[in-house]
Amino acid sequence: MKVTVIGTGYVGLVTGACLANLGHQVICADISVEKITTLTSGELPIWEMGLDGLLKEARRSERIRYTTNMDFAIEEAEVLLIAVGTPSQPDGDADLSHLWSVVHDLAAYNLTNKLLIIKSTVPVGTTDAIDVFLHQLSSDHHPIDVVHNPEFLRQGNAVHDFFHPDRIVVGCASETARNIMRTLYNGVSAPFHFCNRSSAELIKYASNVFLAMKISYINMIADLAENLGANIEDVAKGMGLDKRIGASFLQAGAGYGGSCFPKDIKALKTLGQKWECELPLLDSIEAINNERPRAIVNKAKKYLGSLIGKKIALFGLTFKPMTDDIREASSLAVSQLCIAEGADVHVYDPLVHTYPVQGVTVHRDMYLAADSCDSLIILTEWEEFRDLDWSIISKALRFPLIIDGRNMFSWEYMRQHAKEHHLIYLSIGRPPM
Ligand code: UDX
Repeated sequence: MKVTVIGTGYVGLVTGACLANLGHQVICADISVEKITTLTSGELPIWEMGLDGLLKEARRSERIRYTTNMDFAIEEAEVLLIAVGTPSQPDGDADLSHLWSVVHDLAAYNLTNKLLIIKSTVPVGTTDAIDVFLHQLSSDHHPIDVVHNPEFLRQGNAVHDFFHPDRIVVGCASETARNIMRTLYNGVSAPFHFCNRSSAELIKYASNVFLAMKISYINMIADLAENLGANIEDVAKGMGLDKRIGASFLQAGAGYGGSCFPKDIKALKTLGQKWECELPLLDSIEAINNERPRAIVNKAKKYLGSLIGKKIALFGLTFKPMTDDIREASSLAVSQLCIAEGADVHVYDPLVHTYPVQGVTVHRDMYLAADSCDSLIILTEWEEFRDLDWSIISKALRFPLIIDGRNMFSWEYMRQHAKEHHLIYLSIGRPPM
């Protein structure tokens, strides 16, 4: 089918590339001349594993084109898929200005025989409102249907997640739309879950916030485990063997970051307030997560006392590995807390070389970052940290304190290295070493 994807962020671009790979004829449209110029030149404005290869193949087979020309992009399409950003507003509600701007643009065209898909994460009721708006504007130019088709892509794994979803959620109002969606995703082996639009919108928020809740829950239990001499890794494993609980998203650590979990919790809170429906769990999920950076800094202070004049190294600035995205990353709060306590903060990250926190020294060599430091705090579990040379680290540090904020080293591995190199090793929810 001829598909136009509007919005070339990590969801839109990945979706366009993957749909082209499924055999569709794709146009990726964006208002950003810079983004479209970059894509047209064969460069990538974002990094996602496998995306470059997919786009190169789609370009070779002439299945993908990029444009800022909305006339061309809309008139050519049988399916219009909107994947523009819906970031948080200061009050926590989603900012739908980009989305509605696109919808208003679309309303100027004859959309009969076209299917409109909303893939952006939107407050419940938005897709219905778009459908009503387009019907009101033109009784005979509205689309076949307006569908809500939420994405569940993890940054860094987005291409994999597109082709291997656990389910394809489709909120729509017609059998025609269902059949078009089956054709669109033909080649992706996953069950469809058809429901109404509001249910599809709520599935996205409810799923994301549930995942964030699992993380805050295990971090809460980790704090208790530390006092009891229990090992949170063993606790999480023992819990996860129960299929009703599931093993994933039970990794205790420095807390969740990224542009999705924090945004979606705020949006769900706002939705509850709007409908005067108490959602008390949400505050606790946020409060536990917001406390993680302070808990990590307190671990350092337990051994160093005051941080005034101390030199602290932070390894890992991004909100998770395999991305250069630092939005809501734990490192932002940890570095600011250390500076506020009078520390001299030195940081290293494989992909991040400019960092927005004032007063932080950014290094391109992790051993130089650790030089003469009184503590090394790991905040993102980058693969390259697994090969740290502990003999170099122990000689570089002024005080041999390692705080592993992601429990990235196994208990047995670290017990051997801490003993051999006279390191103090602290982690999350496990006894000190
Ligand atoms: C998330 C959802 O997983 C995805 O389905 C949705 O579409 C977008 O939001 P993403 O934010 O890209 O994806 O990353 P994810 O891998 O979910 O991790 C989010 C944060 O949680 C990261 O900071 C990660 O370090 C943290 N995390 C994840 C934990 O602290 N513990 C875990 O067990 C899992």
